[in-house]
Amino acid sequence: MRVLGIESSCDETAAAVVTQDGVIGSDVVRSQIALHAPYGGVVPELASRDHMRAIAAVVQEALARATVTLPELDGIAVTCRPGLMGALLVGVQFAKGLAFATGLPMVGVDHLVGHLLAAFLRAPGAPPAPTFPFVALLASGGHTSIYRVDGPLAPQIRELGGTRDDAAGEAFDKVSKLLGLGYPGGPVIDRRAAQGNPLAIDVPRPMKARASLEMSFSGIKTFIASHVAREGVPTEPAAIDDLCASFQAAVVDTLVRKTMVAARGERLERVVLAGGVAANRGLRAGFARACDKHGFELVIPPPSACTDNAAMIAYAGAQRLMNGERDDLTLGVSTMTSLPRATRRGGGPR
Ligand code: KG4
Ligand code: ZN
Repeated sequence: MRVLGIESSCDETAAAVVTQDGVIGSDVVRSQIALHAPYGGVVPELASRDHMRAIAAVVQEALARATVTLPELDGIAVTCRPGLMGALLVGVQFAKGLAFATGLPMVGVDHLVGHLLAAFLRAPGAPPAPTFPFVALLASGGHTSIYRVDGPLAPQIRELGGTRDDAAGEAFDKVSKLLGLGYPGGPVIDRRAAQGNPLAIDVPRPMKARASLEMSFSGIKTFIASHVAREGVPTEPAAIDDLCASFQAAVVDTLVRKTMVAARGERLERVVLAGGVAANRGLRAGFARACDKHGFELVIPPPSACTDNAAMIAYAGAQRLMNGERDDLTLGVSTMTSLPRATRRGGGPR
């Protein structure tokens, strides 16, 4: 089965062709980062307009690179939630148009399910991906939660716990802004942290001692903000590196610790990382060490599969199509995920 995936939930217009086994035929991502960078974050209306301009060409390029024509496809998968309303609508309306014109079956995909299945994507000839069940950490710009994943369909995925305030990627982006390092913050802090001393500043680890899987990142960000308000942004590049390294260590420490608690609690020995923050080198190294110590198998997709892309959407959609599921032209969009939340925003278990 060959499926065309379409992704437009935030600031990437993406299209890809992927088989039901996760083999990537093409994977086209057109980023809007340069468009939003002057504003220090994603401007929703600008995002929608740019998706409109880009989507037809991006889809055509994905088909061309996979050397496949529309009639040769077996289905269309499109991100329908969660995300920016106007941005999601561009992808969903485009997918509906294609499905109507070609008669191909179409399914909507929850963006978070896509991220959680990104570990199954592979190049032609590459070995097969992890097996179910596993514990997954999904850490992106909008979401940070730990899941038990028993299969590739949404009802087989259960949130075990998550952040009660900011997402981990949001903390990276906000701290980067505080330090004048630009948007998005993750990649630049990752680079600066690699040269800094993670023990230079004693950044707190909120909720560290709790056995619960709740996390908090706004406190870490506020600590850095207070530090900068008191002492100013360091003028020495090495001092900025140290600040980045200390901040990153606190975030990584929290994510690693909570994910290990979750895996032990679920009695699962396989850990999968997902979402843009999983591209972080400190995080990858921290998880490699912890999983080694606990004897867990660790699966981390390549960085390009961790950040937003349409290949993960095509793969997740293929699993729905294989299960006989279909959406029709009434498919709607939502700013919320379809996965039930275990942790409330603002705090406390549900
Ligand atoms: O998954 P993603 O591409 O989009 C969302 O669904 O949110 O994640 C984007 C987030 C941003 O907050 C970005 O700063 C962060 O992932 N990110 C990173 C790295 N690369 C991207 N965070 C830490 N280290 C990185 N190398
Ligand atoms: Zn994402």
